[in-house]
Amino acid sequence: METVLSGIRSTGNLHLGNYFGAVKNFIKMQENNNCFFFIADYHSLTTYPTPEDLHNSVKSVLAEYLASGLDPDKSALYVQSDVREIPELYLLLNMNAYVGELERTTSFKDKVRTQPDNVNAGLLTYPVLMAADILIHNAHKVPVGKDQEQNLEMARKFAKRFNFMYKVEYFNEPQPYNFGEELVKVPGLDGTGKMGKTAGNGIFLVDEDKEIQKKVMRAVTDAGPTVLNSPVAEPIQNLFALMNLVSTPDTLNHFKEKYASCEIRYGDLKKQLAEDIIAFVSPIRKRIHEIMADSTYLKKVAEQGAEKARASASKTLEEVRKIIGFKKF
Ligand code: TRP
Repeated sequence: METVLSGIRSTGNLHLGNYFGAVKNFIKMQENNNCFFFIADYHSLTTYPTPEDLHNSVKSVLAEYLASGLDPDKSALYVQSDVREIPELYLLLNMNAYVGELERTTSFKDKVRTQPDNVNAGLLTYPVLMAADILIHNAHKVPVGKDQEQNLEMARKFAKRFNFMYKVEYFNEPQPYNFGEELVKVPGLDGTGKMGKTAGNGIFLVDEDKEIQKKVMRAVTDAGPTVLNSPVAEPIQNLFALMNLVSTPDTLNHFKEKYASCEIRYGDLKKQLAEDIIAFVSPIRKRIHEIMADSTYLKKVAEQGAEKARASASKTLEEVRKIIGFKKF
């Protein structure tokens, strides 16, 4: 069985784009892999959250993933800062990471440009910490989006370098986990592009029914088809794509046929879409609130996850220390 590791940013609420684009695949992934999911709260310190914000965002991210279906009994679901072996491996990997190569990463160069007043060393070594996250479990695969590909490449580089330096074949070279055809692109409500965090474009799992309805009713459309069987314009294609995720095939076909015959009324389409999104999201939202209110459960999950992660991490760290030459007297 392969070890798959996924790091989750510790800030931001999940929207339907995250859900269908990633979380749903995570849920499948945990069925036939040895999965590690963790919330990257050490990484978030590069942006200086307050102690309250730090804790609250970790808590809500954990609750949202649990409510979406990550199963703490099937996977190791943990908080990064609960595993002290990670910073030790980070220290060790830092010795073989060159300042020059770290300065050349796109994400670092972006930060230098966008926040020149706060170019901290944590930002520079962000890829090393990420490599430590991955290598501490000697993961084979890591599901990453486009923006994290370079970081994964760095992790491979550090793994290879360690193996070469100590003439061992210890670390695997972590490869991207490929969701293949299952990779779903979820469009936003503003007529063009993917669903994201931009205001009005996304539906969050914590959105109240009214909010969802308002957002969907305001979604961008066009003047409507005037010629039979005309091609579907992007904003409408996007609404169909959303419908494809949350509505029944019959519903979707009904509106596609109406479009083809120029009888479509976008108001009706949106009303139905809002209803189906609400039916999908509201049970998840209720679970999120239940979990958020249940500190005993959250504590149990975090402890159980940390225990599993520490068992695997301490084994790796012991072996790495031995390879490097640390010896007990
Ligand atoms: N950098 C990732 C992000 O911003 C989060 C992350 C931290 C991560 N450590 C990781 C992802 C290890 C995969 C593996 O999304």
